Amino acid sequence: MRTPHAALLLLFILSCSRVAYSGGGRSRFTSIISFGDSYADTGNLVRWADPVLPGPNPFNNLPYGETFFGYPTGRATDGRLVLDFIAQALGLPLVPPYLAKGSNFSNGVNFAVAGAPALNLTYLQGQNLTVEPPINRSLHDQLDWFQKLKPSLCKGKGADFFGSSLFVMGEFGGNDYNFLMSCNRTVEQARVYAPQIVDSISRGVEVLHTDPARRQVVVADIFPIGCLPAILTMLASPNNMEYDGHGCLKSMNKLGRYQSSLLRRRIKVLRYKYPHTKIIATEYYRPVLACVLVA
Ligand SMILES: *[C@@H]1O[C@H](CO)[C@@H](O)[C@H](O)[C@H]1NC(C)=O
Ligand SMILES: *[C@@H]1O[C@H](CO)[C@@H](O)[C@H](O)[C@H]1NC(C)=O
Ligand SMILES: *[C@@H]1O[C@H](CO)[C@@H](O)[C@H](O)[C@H]1NC(C)=O
Ligand SMILES: *[C@@H]1O[C@H](CO)[C@@H](O)[C@H](O)[C@H]1NC(C)=O
Ligand SMILES: *[C@@H]1O[C@H](CO)[C@@H](O)[C@H](O)[C@H]1NC(C)=O
Repeated sequence: MRTPHAALLLLFILSCSRVAYSGGGRSRFTSIISFGDSYADTGNLVRWADPVLPGPNPFNNLPYGETFFGYPTGRATDGRLVLDFIAQALGLPLVPPYLAKGSNFSNGVNFAVAGAPALNLTYLQGQNLTVEPPINRSLHDQLDWFQKLKPSLCKGKGADFFGSSLFVMGEFGGNDYNFLMSCNRTVEQARVYAPQIVDSISRGVEVLHTDPARRQVVVADIFPIGCLPAILTMLASPNNMEYDGHGCLKSMNKLGRYQSSLLRRRIKVLRYKYPHTKIIATEYYRPVLACVLVA
């Protein structure tokens, strides 16, 4: 992602947080708690122990990490992730991965795992889908990690620790569709799963509300899945009409927009249900599409 777009997203988030605090007095977040996939993973997947992930992991090798860190960090990019820019803009340390044992999680923790679906492994396998590697890293599993770590996170930090945390939920859905398409499902068959994916994201937001206190949650939409190299390869077509002006597959991008429209509707419902919570809907779709060069 080119910097201008990342900056745009960031500005959007920051301006929202100012609105959220204009009456409250508090001016900054003290921690970031993140859930997601490779768009947010700062090093969880590469720490997953053998023999679950045998062999070298590409994210553990150059050129990953080369343009900013100078070495691979486990991020699925050569530079920083949107989450890194958010942390830096808020004056917080880059969010450490949960599986980095011995990390200091006082200013945040990242549960995101590259390749994570919204739907869990047991469910996906029950749908006769091959999930590779078969590891429990779905949103549901990440929330279990959060519940386990929760007591130690707020210990000695007062009841308001989570009130001054920025929760970042997503992106989720891209990997679910990737698994579906790699098992030869049609776009129409994949579409049937969108409501369930949105339910899962919504349940994730709800888990963050075990008490009626104030929360700030950023919920990301889905990126343009029709531009993913894996999808472009699997669904390659000789018919030019199936591609948009960016060289991306129209049908898959339409599927992504369908999920996003369901998610936006759900966010409205959640805002009613949790009036103490600032739920910020944020967008990957258009900023990422704007970065995709015409092939
Ligand atoms: C963790 O970081 C916080 C804030 O930067 C600091 O106050 C605390 O002493 C650190 N804890 C440990 C065990 O290093
Ligand atoms: C997996 O997801 C299904 C469907 O959402 C749910 O019913 C089930 O409880 C989940 N199982 C586990 C182990 O998370
Ligand atoms: C999975 O495959 C089995 C065996 O072919 C079949 O009986 C079952 O109906 C399939 N389940 C789904 C959800 O497609
Ligand atoms: C994933 O989690 C489910 C439910 O806890 C468990 O039954 C299953 O064995 C786990 N699978 C793997 C590969 O860890
Ligand atoms: C999907 O289809 C391709 C081509 O027909 C085939 O080689 C592959 O084994 C199929 N994959 C699955 C998971 O069914």
